[in-house]
Amino acid sequence: MKYDFDTLTHRRGTDSLKWNVKDNELPMWVADMDFKAAPEILEAIRERLDHGILGYPVIEDRWYDAYTGWWEMRHGFKMNKDSLIFCAGVIPAISSMIRTFTSPGANVLIQPPVYNAFFGLIKDNKRLVQESPLIYRNGNYEMDLSDLDRKMADPATKLMILCNPHNPTGNIWGKEELCTVGEFAKKHGVTVISDEIHCDLTEPGKAYYPFASVSDTCAQVGISCIAPTKAFNLAGLKSAAVYASDPDLNEKIREGFRADELSEPNAFAGIAAITAFEKCGGWLDELREYVSENRRTADEYIRSNIPDIKVVRGEATYLMWLDVSQVKGDPAGFGAYLRKKTGLFVSPGHIFGQQGRNFLRMNIACPSSVLTDGLSRLKKGAE
Ligand SMILES: Cc1ncc(COP(=O)(O)O)c(C=O)c1O
Repeated sequence: MKYDFDTLTHRRGTDSLKWNVKDNELPMWVADMDFKAAPEILEAIRERLDHGILGYPVIEDRWYDAYTGWWEMRHGFKMNKDSLIFCAGVIPAISSMIRTFTSPGANVLIQPPVYNAFFGLIKDNKRLVQESPLIYRNGNYEMDLSDLDRKMADPATKLMILCNPHNPTGNIWGKEELCTVGEFAKKHGVTVISDEIHCDLTEPGKAYYPFASVSDTCAQVGISCIAPTKAFNLAGLKSAAVYASDPDLNEKIREGFRADELSEPNAFAGIAAITAFEKCGGWLDELREYVSENRRTADEYIRSNIPDIKVVRGEATYLMWLDVSQVKGDPAGFGAYLRKKTGLFVSPGHIFGQQGRNFLRMNIACPSSVLTDGLSRLKKGAE
């Protein structure tokens, strides 16, 4: 490997949300990696910093080319650059679009267990969380399409947030089910926000399907949220994009972002994204190999040493979704117990919806030595 993912970079005392924990605790929760960003990105930021002036930046033409070039090369999806909009983070963008496309009291449809922030975003905007839970069958997740059709038919439902690939299960949605979601949305007049922030973190050799790419209907009803921040570990830079090819949706999003002051980049947001997409494909491929190896290690370790815990085999993200329904005692309280007993801090499944109450989400984007420590704490907790 050209790049180093083994060296442990200490993060305590660096204003890290993830590492703001007690001395004996090991945080493997929030989706933030314990790896330095690619040297090419750090160099580009350093260069900007060394220039010494940090005034208001603009989004350069290169930024549009970097996104469209990456999506075409990596995901076989040709985006029209005029339909791409910069925004300071996916979550603020979704929040703004909830206000743009729905009124207070309306439903926003999601598929739990799903990224916990969706619940807060909907409730904080005084909208109602409408759930179409995924089906958990034989250790795998699938969409409940007939339920989705029924829920979208509710006149109070005008917006759905799709997580593609899915956090926390690691599912990559298939072309056919995405097409079906698009068909239902069109039939019922629902707009689909497809949050694709994890799309570059698939298992080596596995592709994801951009929602807007799978059919003309999906392109018409869909809004894609994309970013380099998960894959390249740049979350603190607040750099993302929204893509909507439908001119009417696109204009409404822009209006909302203007009102929410969401389209102004910080001094490093543009250059970091450009460098990631232009120069860091090699880094990303090595990272995916490393995470995949971590996944194999964790899978094998848990299977051999902690038979009461079952790994849900995801094919994307660096998050492992663990079924702890068979652990002794109280499965729903296992996350809290684990933290208290062993210091291992993982995300308790209930935050992703009540369907996740007997699960844990463990972040494995860390040096293998840290993973080994985490796994032995997990074993100790399950004893
Ligand atoms: C599915 C999903 N969307 C959005 C985000 C956060 O996006 P941002 O940091 O751009 O607001 C996360 C972070 O974990 C996530 O998992």
